[in-house]
Amino acid sequence: MKTEYLSRKVIDYLDTNYVEIISPIINNPEFIKRKEYNHHEQRSVFYHSLMVSLTSYHLAKKLGLDYKSAAIGGLLHDFYYNDWQLTKEKRPFHLQHGFVHAKEALANSKQIFPDLIDKKVENIIKRHMFPLNFIPPFYYESWLICFVDKYCSLEIFKNPKKLYKYIGIMKEEKHE
Ligand SMILES: [Fe+2]
Ligand SMILES: [Fe+2]
Repeated sequence: MKTEYLSRKVIDYLDTNYVEIISPIINNPEFIKRKEYNHHEQRSVFYHSLMVSLTSYHLAKKLGLDYKSAAIGGLLHDFYYNDWQLTKEKRPFHLQHGFVHAKEALANSKQIFPDLIDKKVENIIKRHMFPLNFIPPFYYESWLICFVDKYCSLEIFKNPKKLYKYIGIMKEEKHE
């Protein structure tokens, strides 16, 4: 695993068990494309997903939960198709990114990593946007990723004007 883009603090948390679990995903060319997808505040979707996965893995271990599912679900929770912030396509409100990307991420994960998706990982990905997507998570691990995802996105509050991006809503461009 290449680590040149990670801080020393993050590298210290990458134990061999974790790297073994995530290596089929992290080395996949389709997943690597997420280094180019913007998340928020100068972070890529790749980096954000890795942080959610790594944090959830360690917390799950501490709490005696299924850390393997937490690591995989955390890494794939935002594995949606395209960089939504670049899309010019106008979607009705209920089909905006915040409402549909969990489903997209699940469909994409099932297609690219069919062997890694079981009922629990499926629920982790599908329910991570609760309460915006109003069906709550089912497993403890799904709740964990749901909270850790929000915690790892807190940097958006440094720039509250961009909060609409956090919840995945495309803002109308203002024209003169
Ligand atoms: Fe998400
Ligand atoms: Fe996320």
